[in-house]
Amino acid sequence: MPLQHIVEAQQFDRDVMAQIFSVAREMEQVVKRYGSNILSRRVMATLFYEPSTRTRLSFESAMLRLGGDVITTESAQEFSSAAKGETLEDTIRIIAGYADVIVLRHFESGASKRAAAVSPVPIISAGDGPGQHPTQALLDVYTIEREIGHLDGIRIAMVGDLANGRTVRSLCYLLAKYESPQIFFVAPEVVRMRDDIKEYLTRHQISWTEVSDLAQVAPQVDVIYQTRIQRERFGDRVGDYEQARGRFIIDRGTLERMRDDAIVMHPLPRVDEIVADEVDDDPRAAYFRQAHNGLYVRMALLRLILEGD
Ligand code: CP
Repeated sequence: MPLQHIVEAQQFDRDVMAQIFSVAREMEQVVKRYGSNILSRRVMATLFYEPSTRTRLSFESAMLRLGGDVITTESAQEFSSAAKGETLEDTIRIIAGYADVIVLRHFESGASKRAAAVSPVPIISAGDGPGQHPTQALLDVYTIEREIGHLDGIRIAMVGDLANGRTVRSLCYLLAKYESPQIFFVAPEVVRMRDDIKEYLTRHQISWTEVSDLAQVAPQVDVIYQTRIQRERFGDRVGDYEQARGRFIIDRGTLERMRDDAIVMHPLPRVDEIVADEVDDDPRAAYFRQAHNGLYVRMALLRLILEGD
């Protein structure tokens, strides 16, 4: 599979995803056997201009578990030479001389594409502002297949901050590759799913519906994909944030309405949109398993990008 840069979810088709997921399942076994050395002497750079726990550390763990090495700049806006005015393009040109692959999180939509345009080594987007988060979407689809057992015909409610949620945006692009998904958008008025995604889904004959009542849709779906209201994207629109926050919460009542074989997902971090005491111990709470799947999917991506098929 010729995989070089990973900059947007639209670049993946079903065959490529099937191959990634097959390698990810192998990686589950590799981790159980305490790793491998197939990426020995290869170097991955992680360059993060926005905070991260899961994406940065799972990529770094993935590289280390495959025998590779990691160099890293977190808080890159402050601790890299971006603080002195260096452009993203120049930073990428320099790091490409030190590393075989660059994992980039940036605060601007499209930053990964800009980086890929000048980089002689693969760029992997780790999320670009309110744009996309393609590797999160891959691990989300992997999780749905592992948990539900199929992707064709999947029924999913995406809940919360859909305007700023890069994970749900990328997930829509990926689910559109499968047969007859049904997508329900459940969002506060100020953070409804943006038109570009709705237009894309309509153009590809994917069923989507906006609903205002989570209780109504909960019994109908295989997956409730909850998201955080992203305070950091509201700027000084404090009123809008307060209006959106707390509007849709997953609690015991939501679980009671859900099917026994449905799951709750969340890209995490969460704040108050899942009542932890009431939901975490339910076997349908899949979000920690989902986060762990990120390791296997990112190991698979690194292996496929750096070693080929
Ligand atoms: N899901 C996700 O992207 O988490 P982090 O921001 O912690 O990387």
